[in-house]
This record gives sequence, structure tokens and C-alpha cells, in this order.
Amino acid sequence: TEPIRLALCGDILHFQRDPGWDEDGGDAARFEPDGWLLVEDGRVQAVRAADQPPDARWTRHDWRGHLILPGFIDTHVHAPQLDVIGSYGAQLLDWLQRYTFPAEARYADPEQSRRGAERFLHALLAHGTTAALVYATVHKASSEALFAVGQALGMRLVTGKVLMDRNCPDDLRDDVEQAERDCVDLIDRWHGVDRLAYAVTPRFAATSSRAQLSMAGRLLDAYRDRAGGLYMQTHVAENRDEVRWVAELFPESRSYLDVYAAHGLLGARSVLAHGIWLDDADRALLAQTGAQIAFCPSSNLFLGSGLFDWARARAAGVRVAPASDVGGGTSLCALRTLADGYKVLALQGQRLPAWQGLYAATLGAAQALGLAHEIGHFAAGTLADVVVWRWADGPVQQRRQDMARSLHERLFAWMSLADERNVAAVYLRGCRISAALAQHDRHAG
Ligand code: GUN
Ligand code: ZN
Repeated sequence: TEPIRLALCGDILHFQRDPGWDEDGGDAARFEPDGWLLVEDGRVQAVRAADQPPDARWTRHDWRGHLILPGFIDTHVHAPQLDVIGSYGAQLLDWLQRYTFPAEARYADPEQSRRGAERFLHALLAHGTTAALVYATVHKASSEALFAVGQALGMRLVTGKVLMDRNCPDDLRDDVEQAERDCVDLIDRWHGVDRLAYAVTPRFAATSSRAQLSMAGRLLDAYRDRAGGLYMQTHVAENRDEVRWVAELFPESRSYLDVYAAHGLLGARSVLAHGIWLDDADRALLAQTGAQIAFCPSSNLFLGSGLFDWARARAAGVRVAPASDVGGGTSLCALRTLADGYKVLALQGQRLPAWQGLYAATLGAAQALGLAHEIGHFAAGTLADVVVWRWADGPVQQRRQDMARSLHERLFAWMSLADERNVAAVYLRGCRISAALAQHDRHAG
């Protein structure tokens, strides 16, 4: 049978490698104004310049005047926390008790979990994010629902049930044996199926016993060879009170990060959110194990957690990818995350060029998750998860675009000013997500 051939025409931007930290991205960034993105049976076949249009066998989608990017990748976000996004007046530990734990308790109900998973994944797509590493809740049903809805949508999704067996409300507490059974069942049924993968998810050191952390390490080890291995996601060194508390709970550990190292939880597929209060030995350990930091600037500002020092992490050879951390963060939109990231770095005398920001949220994140063969850029053979963006939404953004004198200036102003209202279309594996779905999310929820 004939392949399905699709040609998107517009201002195509993607990255071939890390553009570095200069305002001049060199040739790491590929930009094709009015170029052609050719997609065959859901996979990228080629990117062509404006003067090399495809023949009549290709169905054209005309997005000239729009920016065409690989879908953004969110490396740390909590599905159930859409229910508490933008909650007033608390730092981390207080915020968990007052808002987050009560909200997560509702997901014990499988019907709530299913509706929550739909609401969350539809919202993620409507914000221009097509792949994510996601926290469910402690309930098996919440992870189950995310896998099922993600599979139906055809999304690249990595998630797992939260592990939490102490220092939390009774209705959110699991135990080592039941948690292990739930994990094994979820892994066996979902890990490596379609575009799904399992992440072992100890919430953070403070809510897991040593026995539970050991069980998490055993799982990672046991499934080392299954579909590239499991992921591990957790939080580390986010808030000063949290760091003090973890030191009291684990007096035998040199540092917060060492708690995870001691239980075999650090590897190339480990993603630790925040990492604000790390020292040089911690950074060296991250670099040595290949574990990564999810930089969550919106959350770090909103919860008053502190300023992540990206330059020091980079100097130590630590991989870093941006993340929304909704509901600690206040937007699912990667552009808002990057704009906040720019401000967090600015407060420390550092700069985030648009090249580096957009790379980090696409190819950089894909590389960090070991998924660059599938997503994050428009290399031939990757799956065509594509977002079409308006360069400007409204007269203020338009004026700024009109005044820009270089491509970096255009992109930086766009990264700083645009948001999900600039999304014009979303494609997963070359299939356009229905406008109806996005409409539904915008108005009905
Ligand atoms: N640390 C432990 N749980 C959480 C959470 O839900 N959000 C954030 N930002 N930090 C955490
Ligand atoms: Zn988080």
C-alpha cells in the first residue's frame, strides 16, 4: 500500500547537537524559512529548503509564516497537581501538606484517575509538549490511567506510581510489598509497550523507608535489560528545610544525593528534580553516574526554593534539562519555563541564549532521556511529533517580532513572550491532534 506522505511548510527550526552558550548558535541549529518538513508514515523523512518542494504525491499543510519545532519534552511534571497549580502562600513542606497531599488523595478513585489523566495529557499537548516524564500518585490506578490514555493518544510518555511509605497521610501511604507488586505488574504490562516506559518513582527521600528505597534499586537492577531499562525519577535538594529534614532522617548519608546513591538509584536513566542545594561532591557524583537534573525554574521561584546554578552544574559535567514541575510550577508551557529559567540565571549573572533554551527543551531533553533516536529533532527516521507555533499572538508580540534584527533576537523575544496561546497545531507521529480536543481543553476542561 502507498505510504501516507505529509509535507509541512513553514519556518522550520531544530537542532543537530548542543549549540553551546553563545548567542551565536553556530550550525548546531538548523533553520529553514518556508522550508519543507517531509513526513512518511509518521516518521520524518527529510527537511528541505523552500526551493526544493516535494512532488504531487505529498499532501501539503501550509504553515508559512509559522514556526515549526519538534514538540517540547517536559522532564518533570506531576499529573494530579493540575488540581493545585497556583496555590497561595507556602514553601515546599507546608505546600505538600496543605494542598498537594489532599489533592492527590482523590486519585484513589480509578474514575477520577482516568478523567485526570485525560485532562492532564490533553492539556500538555495543547501547551505544545508532546513527551514527558510524569509523576502519577501513589495509587496504581493513576499510573494505569496515564499509560492507557497516553497509549490511545500515541504519546511518548514515561510515568510510574509514586512510592511513599512514611511521613505522609494514611490514605497516601503504601508499603514495600504491595508497592513492589504494583510496580512489577505495571512494568510487565506497560514498560516498552508502544511509546511508553516505566519510571520507578520514590517521591523523595523523606517519604520512603530505607527498605522501600532498596526495593526501588532492586527493580532498576532486575529490569536493566528490558527495553533499555527503567527510568528513575525523584526530587533532590529543593528546599532548605527539606534538606535539613532528610539529613535528620538519614544521618548515615554524607548528603541528600548520597541517600539515593546508597540505594542504587543513580544511573543514566535517573532524573532528579531541582538540585538547588548540592555541593561539588554531589555534582561530581551526578556527572559520574550520568544522572540528570530537571531544572524547574517556575517552581523554584513560586515555592521560594532558591536559584539553581546551571553554570556550575555544566562546569561539573552534569546534564540538565528544563521542566515545568506543575503544580509547584505555574505553567505547563515550556516557553514559560524557559522564560523563568532565563530570569533565574539572570539573578546569578548568567545568560540563557534562545538557542540553548530551545535545544534543552527538545533535543537536549531527548538525549538526556536516551530518546534522541525517536524525538527531539527532525533527523530522518525520528517520529514526527511536531508543534506549529505563531511567531506572535497579538500586537505586542507582533511589534517585537517586527523590530528584531537577527534570528536570535526573534527567537529570544518569542521564547520570552509567547505561550500556549501561540500554539497553532500539534502533530503526534505525523497525525494532527484534533482542534476539537484543544478547544475542549481550553473551554470545558
Ligand atoms: N518534593 C516531594 N514531593 C514534591 C512535589 O510534589 N513537588 C515538588 N516540587 N517537590 C516535591
Ligand atoms: Zn516535582
